[in-house]
Amino acid sequence: MTTVPCPAEVEAGDGRFALTPDTPLTADPALARAAAWLRETLTPATGLPLPEGPEGVEIRQVTGLGPEEYRLTITPERVLVEASDPAGGFYGAQTLRQLLDPAAFRASRIAEQTWTLPALTVSDRPRYGWRGCLIDVARHFLPKNDLLRYIDLLAMHKLNVLHLHLTDDQGWRLEIAKYPKLTEVGGWRRESPIGSIVHERFDGRPHGGYYTREDIREIVAYAADRFVTVLPEIDLPGHTQAAIAAYPELGNLAEPLEVGTRWGVQDHVLNVSDATIAFFLDVLDEVLELFPSRYVCVGGDEARKVQWVESLDAKQRMADLELATPEELQTWFVRHFTDYLVERGRVPLGWDELLEGGVPPGTAVAAWRGEPVTRLAVRAGHDVVVSPFTATYLDFRQSDSPDEPVPIGSVTSLRSVHDFDPVPDGLDDEERARVLGAQAALWTEHIDSPRLLDYMAFPRLAAFAEAVWTGGRDYEDFLVRLAVHEERLRALGVEFRPQDGPLPWQRRPDAPGRPRTRAEVDAELESWTALLRRSS
Ligand code: ACM
Repeated sequence: MTTVPCPAEVEAGDGRFALTPDTPLTADPALARAAAWLRETLTPATGLPLPEGPEGVEIRQVTGLGPEEYRLTITPERVLVEASDPAGGFYGAQTLRQLLDPAAFRASRIAEQTWTLPALTVSDRPRYGWRGCLIDVARHFLPKNDLLRYIDLLAMHKLNVLHLHLTDDQGWRLEIAKYPKLTEVGGWRRESPIGSIVHERFDGRPHGGYYTREDIREIVAYAADRFVTVLPEIDLPGHTQAAIAAYPELGNLAEPLEVGTRWGVQDHVLNVSDATIAFFLDVLDEVLELFPSRYVCVGGDEARKVQWVESLDAKQRMADLELATPEELQTWFVRHFTDYLVERGRVPLGWDELLEGGVPPGTAVAAWRGEPVTRLAVRAGHDVVVSPFTATYLDFRQSDSPDEPVPIGSVTSLRSVHDFDPVPDGLDDEERARVLGAQAALWTEHIDSPRLLDYMAFPRLAAFAEAVWTGGRDYEDFLVRLAVHEERLRALGVEFRPQDGPLPWQRRPDAPGRPRTRAEVDAELESWTALLRRSS
């Protein structure tokens, strides 16, 4: 069979099941969502009404299967999806759709066609409970409809967390009722770099956009209907230039700022006043109202400390609190928000830089700086979501070719993503259990359109899904299945990267990148982790 991700176990049977206009579909009430979704997607594509009734396709609730697990049994006589929870039923339905002709992925019927499913038995369950994808909607805004399309694409690949990076130096994308200037001022910038910032070229074209509170409610509900949790990130105390541009009193400098127009890590960070803490607690209040997710990300990455070192107020804070380093000041600052979340029954998530000043209690770590950092975090007793940048940052170039659109970073090939293993070597069972799962990341400094997002995401995100759902076992087999999977992606209109490189119109000769070698990237990684080892 050709499904992606590959199921845990498959046994082929004899013959095929034919779906006809009379084939009924029924589900136990607890798994009704899977049946509703099958009708929503298959009826327009196939013309099959799938009327309610027994003895056709049945989605049955059983006891004894794990979370998200399902069994799919197809014989020439019937189709049976069994699961213990709604997500398992849904993933059984997703697999069923992939077993049909790829035309089942179109939005409407294009021809008279018979629809059949191969007889087989699938027993399938995920390797990791956390199978995420970060989309940075701050650097380049992703219009709501494209985000909804991505939620469908995540669900199709059995990914279940959409980490929305909503705020950064170059844009604030979430409407906050109490502080409207966050989006009125922070929601757009004057211009953007063309390609890598090292070339110092700018487009002179405003860029902006934000999600209203109603948009967010819609996105969250749409995702929940597809068993995807939307995990919001409000990045603090760094990556906050857009917020400071909107409300200068949040910053450390007397002079006004504009929303960031440069890529890279900026010096601007929030000040550590009581008023700034109160402001962001208000923001978090609205975030909690809009996002029901168990985890909420408060950032903590790449917060430069130069402004704090020079700030009399920050120095006074450190003296009053008897803190030895600015990293400890960052932890003190962030702890206001993590404690607030914990008190409200949520679990804070913070980037691994928080290890430098101490991870606040109850906070899970998003480890992006590679395996040594993942090891440090789990050995310190934290739950960890891994997103090592050399393996899972999908903004990194896909090949050595200068034709890759805006080539940055080292090469993150399809194969390397497929073969990615979230758990570093050398962990004992207890430590392994603290690895909740993994996330791919679509940072969008250089991804300025949904078309380019498709190119960077696919097919690598399909390979990533296989790594976290099944565990990438056989790359050659993946490539055989991928040939069919590309037909599905084509039917959906996903403009994925062809395996032999970009089509002429997928190149960006106008936007030069800054490719680096793996050795250069590894050296940077080593310098960070050496710092971290010293501070931990
Ligand atoms: C990150 O890549 N700054 C989390």
